[in-house]
Amino acid sequence: MAEPVSDLVLVDDAHHPLRPATSKHYSREYAALASKYVGAPLDISFRELVGPLPASEYTHGLYPYPARLLRHIPRFLLSTDAVVADVDVVFDPFVGSGTVLLEAQLRGFTSIGVEQNPVAALVSRVKVSRGSHTHAATVLNDSLATAKRRRRAVKISPLLSRWYSSGALSALGRLAATAEEHEEEDRDLLQLCLALTARRMATTDPRIPVPVKSARNAMASSSDVWRQWVSESTSILTKLHALPPERPVAEVRTGDARDLTVWPNPEQASRTLLLTSPPYGAAQKYVRSTSLEAAWLGHAPKGKTVHLEHSSIGREHLSPQDLRLDASSVSSPQLRRVLASIAEKDARRGAIYVTYFVDMERVFRNAANVGIRRIALVSGDNHVAGGVLRTSQHLSDIIESLGYRRTVSLRDPIRGRTLLTSRKNGSPAPAEYIEVFEMANCD
Ligand SMILES: C[S@@+](CC[C@H](N)C(=O)[O-])C[C@H]1O[C@@H](n2cnc3c(N)ncnc32)[C@H](O)[C@@H]1O
Repeated sequence: MAEPVSDLVLVDDAHHPLRPATSKHYSREYAALASKYVGAPLDISFRELVGPLPASEYTHGLYPYPARLLRHIPRFLLSTDAVVADVDVVFDPFVGSGTVLLEAQLRGFTSIGVEQNPVAALVSRVKVSRGSHTHAATVLNDSLATAKRRRRAVKISPLLSRWYSSGALSALGRLAATAEEHEEEDRDLLQLCLALTARRMATTDPRIPVPVKSARNAMASSSDVWRQWVSESTSILTKLHALPPERPVAEVRTGDARDLTVWPNPEQASRTLLLTSPPYGAAQKYVRSTSLEAAWLGHAPKGKTVHLEHSSIGREHLSPQDLRLDASSVSSPQLRRVLASIAEKDARRGAIYVTYFVDMERVFRNAANVGIRRIALVSGDNHVAGGVLRTSQHLSDIIESLGYRRTVSLRDPIRGRTLLTSRKNGSPAPAEYIEVFEMANCD
């Protein structure tokens, strides 16, 4: 087993001193909770348990990705003896912007993440990258100089023209062309800086996570873009600099969690902890909230990012294949009844949630098929068609039906994902459930 690094990694950081918290302390807390658990969720506040964490810590605040996981949760779980016993690898099939991977890295675990949204996957890769800080500074500076000199920009996606002034479009296009000339880590770094700069220079309302037109930046010039690049570069470099120098490998796979090929192989899987916060049902905005950045990175050649939604779990735009499903497509008779009753009230909502649970069943089936022994799941419920859909309970039932046993269930009154779901028919109930499952009957 990989020895988790000492708590000093978390404490010994001159830039962002953290509250010292020993693994022994967390392990005792966890053991006390597990011993009290008799089936009903136990109320707990991870913010109180772990204590306040600095707003910008290591690379956590690298990018404002929606619905990020509260990092107190993986910090606690990954410091807890019972959760990390026999674990070599931490695996997050819905890695988003990489909160779990970074926390795993800080605790000394090798990790693997899967993410379907290419912008989030990019953020995750940079968040856990292990390249040299001096080299990163040179790449960012030199690329700005190259972009300023160049005449040609990338071919600009038709999606972008209405969201930028002509001066900003031209400068961003030249930065994008410069980034494309690089490879691997350097390219990631430049594309992340481009995505952040493009986000700031758009004529969008910064208070709304999806693009909505505003008067901001209507007259932005190339010089404004160059200045913004410098500011974003400085901020990225400061965050990268705060990372401890020696960290294990964290691999990000851009792909679909329903696809078994992106999962750890069976040999790794028996020593893998699956720790994840899956998408909510009706969480249609992961793709839309990053659509401009995706277009700058070349993912909207025809002016649309809707193709990215097809493999996005929780999607609202259903394909003809999705629409062929109905409540009978899920395995659990109880969930079938719940979904049929939603469909009676609102056929479209019914179809969206049937698709969601069918997809989630496929994902957890992969966990059982490769032989993952422990799953830590952070999930929430939804308000749907005038009632509460107990999404967490249904996900938990699916996992148990695959041969796992729930060993603890904690309920935290976390808020904050509301903006991500459709307001009328998907807004999550204001609590999250943190549950740990063990494969039953494993020797
Ligand atoms: C709740 S977010 C995870 C947030 C993450 N824990 C973080 O802190 O940034 C769920 C993620 O699942 C991703 N996702 C949706 N469908 C997916 C799929 N089929 N395969 C892999 N990732 C998917 C979404 O793009 C989103 O980033």
